[in-house]
Amino acid sequence: MAQAWFATGPEGLETWELREVDVPAPQAGEVTIRVHAAGMNPADVKHSARPGATFPVPLGYEVSGEIAAIGPDTSIGSGSGSIGDEVVAFRVTGGYATELTLPAEKVFAKPRTLTHPAAANLLLAGATAAELVELTGAGEGDTILLHGASGAVGVSVLQQAAVRGIRVVGTASDARADTVRRYGGIPIAYGPGLADRAVDAGGPYAAAVDAIGTDEAIDVSLALVADRSRILTIVRPDRVASDGIVAIGGMKRASAVFRDAARPAIIDLAERGLLEVPVARTYPLEQAREAAELLMTGHAGGKIALIP
Ligand SMILES: NC(=O)c1ccc[n+]([C@@H]2O[C@H](COP(=O)([O-])OP(=O)(O)OC[C@H]3O[C@@H](n4cnc5c(N)ncnc54)[C@H](OP(=O)(O)O)[C@@H]3O)[C@@H](O)[C@H]2O)c1
Repeated sequence: MAQAWFATGPEGLETWELREVDVPAPQAGEVTIRVHAAGMNPADVKHSARPGATFPVPLGYEVSGEIAAIGPDTSIGSGSGSIGDEVVAFRVTGGYATELTLPAEKVFAKPRTLTHPAAANLLLAGATAAELVELTGAGEGDTILLHGASGAVGVSVLQQAAVRGIRVVGTASDARADTVRRYGGIPIAYGPGLADRAVDAGGPYAAAVDAIGTDEAIDVSLALVADRSRILTIVRPDRVASDGIVAIGGMKRASAVFRDAARPAIIDLAERGLLEVPVARTYPLEQAREAAELLMTGHAGGKIALIP
């Protein structure tokens, strides 16, 4: 028997249960992955408690591991695929697991440059960041303002913007300013006086990306970016109607299509050493609740992975 985590009610982490599950043998077009690391994202916690969810909700959207079985006449998303191959998969259902069977099109060869805990956390943040960078419309020599630059989405935006020659001024705590520098950004502290610090860091700002969702992040973006269609948020859809900014999210069809299509290019960037995934900490699979508590502090200091 395999094991997998489920949210069994809307009240949050105390309802999470690790259950014994049957993993079906893969049919044509499917693959079974033995999970070496399950990636963790704030969405795992938020979506498992959203109104209208049907419980139990399987947890986890991305994994890294190896092919344990492959259906007849089946190729994975990156082509071919054999038992024992190291792979990543995104968007999966129920990644917090020892093993899972899923559509082969979601499975790609793992970048050799990344460990399993890093690879397990590459694609959700990476695909979100790819969509954000694309929608800024920024190019070589432009400057953008990035709120939450030291976070998981933030460091991926920094690296993907650097590939395009985009200059990024990014907010972070003083403790994480070096992370922003390491990935090519110009760090400034969030908090009172942010707009002045952003001006001092040097604009003009062609676009702004909000990866944190504070009113401060939105308000400073509105003050510094004239074109509201180039102010993007992944956290505050409630500010779209009032302020004319743009909100994106993986539950929206256009974003899902973009992000699925972005997977090979993100893996390629990682394979070429142009996209790293800083990992703060790993936990045994059994400690998913403790890991999620650290995740939801918003200050984990890097990605977190569960290790079966
Ligand atoms: N809509 C979507 O498709 C989508 C996709 C992915 C993520 N998200 C959302 O985006 C957010 C970020 O996700 P993540 O995975 O990047 O999270 P994360 O890794 O936990 O990063 C959070 C970042 O926020 C910063 N931060 C914390 N408090 C702050 C404040 N008061 N002001 C400014 N910055 C602050 C932290 O900086 P310091 O540690 O330096 O303080 C940290 O770097 C989450 O709300 C997540 O649910 C949405």
